[in-house]
Amino acid sequence: MRKIAVIGTGYVGLVTGACFAEIGHQVKCLDIDEKKIYDLSKGIIPFYEPGLEDLVKENLENNRLFFTTNSSFAFHDAEVIYIAVGTPAKEDGSSNLEYIFRAANNIAKYATKNVIVVTKSTVPVGTNERIKELITMNGLKVEVVSNPEFLREGQAINDTFRGDRIIIGSDNDTAATVIEEINQHFHVKVIHTDIKSAEMIKYASNAFLATKISFINEISTICEKLGANIEDVAYGMGLDSRIGTQFLKAGIGYGGSCFPKDTKSLVQIAGNVKHKFDLLEAVINVNNKQQVKLVEQAMARFGNLQGLNVALLGLSFKPNTDDVRESASIVMTNRLLEEGVSITAYDPVAIEKAKSVLPSEVHFTKDIVEALYLADMAFIITDWDEIKRLPLSVYENMMRTPVIYDGRNCYSIEAVKQHRVEYHSIGRKSVKNLKNEVVIH
Ligand code: UDX
Repeated sequence: MRKIAVIGTGYVGLVTGACFAEIGHQVKCLDIDEKKIYDLSKGIIPFYEPGLEDLVKENLENNRLFFTTNSSFAFHDAEVIYIAVGTPAKEDGSSNLEYIFRAANNIAKYATKNVIVVTKSTVPVGTNERIKELITMNGLKVEVVSNPEFLREGQAINDTFRGDRIIIGSDNDTAATVIEEINQHFHVKVIHTDIKSAEMIKYASNAFLATKISFINEISTICEKLGANIEDVAYGMGLDSRIGTQFLKAGIGYGGSCFPKDTKSLVQIAGNVKHKFDLLEAVINVNNKQQVKLVEQAMARFGNLQGLNVALLGLSFKPNTDDVRESASIVMTNRLLEEGVSITAYDPVAIEKAKSVLPSEVHFTKDIVEALYLADMAFIITDWDEIKRLPLSVYENMMRTPVIYDGRNCYSIEAVKQHRVEYHSIGRKSVKNLKNEVVIH
């Protein structure tokens, strides 16, 4: 059992802290947000993540997990301090490291003994060296370890306990061994590297996954034009074990707190060493186009969208999360409102978060049928089970003109053909069955 402090109770910090407590460590989670810390100490979680509330409550009760705004209390007995604060993108795409350096200064000020400082936040290559310099300026002896996080929202606890690898980047063998021991109960493969390589593994992994998505989205557009089916193409490709079936799902583009930010940041990091990352710039451009592709199709189909009713189905950037950061729903909504439509937006859990980023003209509902009632077109943005399971007869019966733009390929073409709907999806033939005959092209 180790005494651990975690700075930052956002997504990464909270999941990390709760999982460490679960495997037996004493964990103190520190944040400057008093309301958040008060809520967390009562077991109230500020975002939706399956299983996390139970884990937090259980470990609060058994006194292994603590929440505090008091740095002295958090650090005085800590053997290891994790930094898990946000590194949001700046205007130019580079990472804003303000919170990272504030955390480092805080450690320098309040830690009373030599510690190992572990960075979980995604930080540009070279940042851990600067963290070490800042803390040692105060006379403390500190070892820094880069230990990037690969957890996916919606599956974060499972990913922590059953991840593919744990990366420990350190220049000090003793510190690296302590961090390996802390994680040993997760039974996940551990890789040791130097600090810079660990920092780079995180960026390169996310950039590669984003590349897979933009690649398959480009292939899907070509499939649409040629009359091929992207689902079959992706499956046929993915069975080659060198390619793999995962992350080849064509859709409305990637969103979330990591891929958009980390891809832009890596372009900047490369630029700083005078390398123009052409491939990754293309990946980003493809994604920007993909997010508005269906709206542009609708504009071409209807000519003028002024006064039409639009149903948006799903607002979060993917299912099982209420996170709307960089979701296609944001750019699509803004684009559609410019065209003069009325929007009713449905999501099973993300409405509260969406209200803070979407314009006030949007009408929100937790009732999917209400969203579709008298709509002229529906856009499927997130493949929530609630949306995938919705019978096509609901579109047929509730919409004024059942024109569906499915950004997640939730329905099979065979199923769609049985209904009086017009259906456009990603990388597959459209079905136009609004009148008596079925037209597929
Ligand atoms: C991602 C990485 O997977 C994780 O390892 C990293 O640490 C943080 O970023 P997350 O943002 O939670 O995790 O979401 P993920 O499940 O990876 O999906 C990201 C986006 O890509 C979503 O918008 C998703 O819909 C999209 N996506 C994913 C596709 O469009 N097609 C795919 O095949 C896979």
